[in-house]
Amino acid sequence: MEHKLVLGIESSCDETAVALVRSDGTVIEDIVHTQQDHMSWGGVVPEVAARAHVRILPRLVGMLFAKTGLSVASIDAVAATCGPGLIGGLIVGMSYGKALAVSAGKPFFAINHLIAHALSPRLIAPCPFPYLLLLVSGGHCQLLRVSGVDAYHLYGTTQDDAVGEAFDKIGRMLELPWPYAPHVEKIAQGGNPHALTLPRPMRGTPHCHFSFSGIKTAVSRHIISLASPLTDAQKADIAASFQHAIIDILCERTHNAMRLMGQHCRDIEEGGEEGGEEGGEEGGTSLLVVAGGVAANGALRQAIDTLSTRNGFRCMIPPPSLCTDNAAMVAWVGCDYINHYGLEACRRFDKPVPRPRWPLDESL
Ligand code: KG4
Ligand code: ZN
Repeated sequence: MEHKLVLGIESSCDETAVALVRSDGTVIEDIVHTQQDHMSWGGVVPEVAARAHVRILPRLVGMLFAKTGLSVASIDAVAATCGPGLIGGLIVGMSYGKALAVSAGKPFFAINHLIAHALSPRLIAPCPFPYLLLLVSGGHCQLLRVSGVDAYHLYGTTQDDAVGEAFDKIGRMLELPWPYAPHVEKIAQGGNPHALTLPRPMRGTPHCHFSFSGIKTAVSRHIISLASPLTDAQKADIAASFQHAIIDILCERTHNAMRLMGQHCRDIEEGGEEGGEEGGEEGGTSLLVVAGGVAANGALRQAIDTLSTRNGFRCMIPPPSLCTDNAAMVAWVGCDYINHYGLEACRRFDKPVPRPRWPLDESL
């Protein structure tokens, strides 16, 4: 099949991003602008973010075409994130993308941001279905079985905060610079991960759900109990203990999900069915994918790698720049759809409806 070129647009939170990706997985160009306007507010302000997307998005698209020497006439489709996320930003990216597609007479694809994270490793290396997905971002913490580009089964999700949100809150409590989470990771490297005894909610349970609010409260209580201002050594110990607790929980629940995934694969083998749209991998090695902004965390990457090796799973985590929000992964969903269904059949994804909530497993 002749390769197709997809323009991706991402604007669901505070990153304004555009990318050009070819259906053979070549990233022609990828530009991410992280808005700095939120620094003084201590978090993302939805209306400020939406107004910034209006200002920045057209400039980025202009830069994208200028850098590549391509034009809208060269692309085969426009793919824009339409949910889940902040409604203002979604409307900006979706309307801009749809207008561009209509004016150029190209198809438009409404992309689920979580699918973009879920399929992102396929842009880097072959990841045959089915695979186990640990999705860890600012708004989500889920374990799922991915059986095809459009087939997701939820094993477990957070009962309260998302894991990225917890990182951000701890960074704010420690009065670290914006963006908080990478600074939490940085100072954790110099701290003692056993300095604080933090809770491990739902430890020892066989399910795949998460809860992080108790850890956050325990950290907050500990900080209040100390004389302020905190020393750098105290901050480092808190960051290290927090990160250690989070990684412990993520690994324990991922281990539970590995068992469920193993059972699923055995059931399929006994039933004589295909493993997924692309079948199982030769040799039958199970695959674990980790995606979303928190997957940029080096300590988590290492711990998941060890967990995978111990349990006979191959582990695939995209490079950090592809874990945090970007438009290459959005364009890639368009490419993966085209590769699976063909360009014409993909017209069914032309549903420009912004969806603040858009679960991967729609049966729930
Ligand atoms: O996927 P993402 O860029 O946006 C959402 O879809 O939410 O994820 C953003 C989250 C932020 O909450 C941030 O705290 C987290 O990713 N994050 C990190 C690191 N870099 C970003 N968490 C831990 N360690 C990091 N190095
Ligand atoms: Zn994201």
